[in-house]
Amino acid sequence: MSDIETQIRDALADIQQTDSLDALQALRVSLLGKSGSITAQLKSLGKLAPEERKAAGAAINQGKVRIAQALDERRGALADKVLEQRLASERVDVTLPGRDGARGGIHPIQRVLERIAYIFERLGYQRAEGPEIEDDWHNFEALNFPPHHPARAMHDTFYFPDGRLLRTHTSPVQIRALMGRTPPVRIIAPGKVYRSDSDQTHSPMFHQIEGLLVDETSSFADLKGTLAAFVRAFFERDFEMRFRPSFFPFTEPSAELDIRWDTGDGSERWMEVLGCGMVHPKVLEHCGIDPERYTGFAFGLGVERFAMLRYGVGDLRVFFENDMRFLRQFA
Ligand code: DAH
Repeated sequence: MSDIETQIRDALADIQQTDSLDALQALRVSLLGKSGSITAQLKSLGKLAPEERKAAGAAINQGKVRIAQALDERRGALADKVLEQRLASERVDVTLPGRDGARGGIHPIQRVLERIAYIFERLGYQRAEGPEIEDDWHNFEALNFPPHHPARAMHDTFYFPDGRLLRTHTSPVQIRALMGRTPPVRIIAPGKVYRSDSDQTHSPMFHQIEGLLVDETSSFADLKGTLAAFVRAFFERDFEMRFRPSFFPFTEPSAELDIRWDTGDGSERWMEVLGCGMVHPKVLEHCGIDPERYTGFAFGLGVERFAMLRYGVGDLRVFFENDMRFLRQFA
């Protein structure tokens, strides 16, 4: 009897000292398994004298229950400990600064486009838009390009089989902005335009910004003042500028604005940066606006040209090749 009790006491002590789930499982097998020591005790009951057997059997069974209970409790405690350790080792410190994600940037053309539009918005111009697929009337006819006029040939137009076309300039937005409106009108219209043309300074798709102001008092002097203020604001410095007479069917008189550009190698040259003029009376008439009462001025500029000048880029094609090494410089 005392032998059994010692064995049980030792087993319970062993259980308390076991400090891993694996060791505990091994201990369970060595105690209660098929060839475990407690199981062996039960098996050997038959060898006892009948009068001892009952008491011994009861003691062993009681011990077996206590051992099984102790094993379960210990297993619960060890499992809790394992969980606690895992939680501690896998804890995330939410106060650590995050890893930097890949950061995108605005494309240089879009950046310059926004910058130009913003300068005019501060002058009270409102953004306007028109479709990239246009009809002949908006792109040419209403802008006073008569059919078969040689000025049409300068535009290398992409035509659709049904006669519609990809707009060759943003000037048709002038028409859309004036139709059905009563001046004063002041709009700035950025967008994509298309011409069948491709080399170092021409891309079949490029961006223009159209400006238009129509009211009762506008003059060529207002046009000059507005564009001079814009060029200074855009490049953040002053330039010598000249308005050189030119021709556009939709303006009369027409001019091109040149700025005196420091080429960087010590020399300077005149650079054409935009076209402009007083809105042709025929254009106002086509839009239902009385040219006796209203006058206006318009201008159109190439966004890529301004981006090339601002960032010192010599080849326009890099803006559209999407070489990340080039684009990252603007991130
Ligand atoms: N539409 C012209 C072009 O693409 C640019 C232009 C010239 C626009 C004079 C204007 C303007 O509004 O007044 O070449």
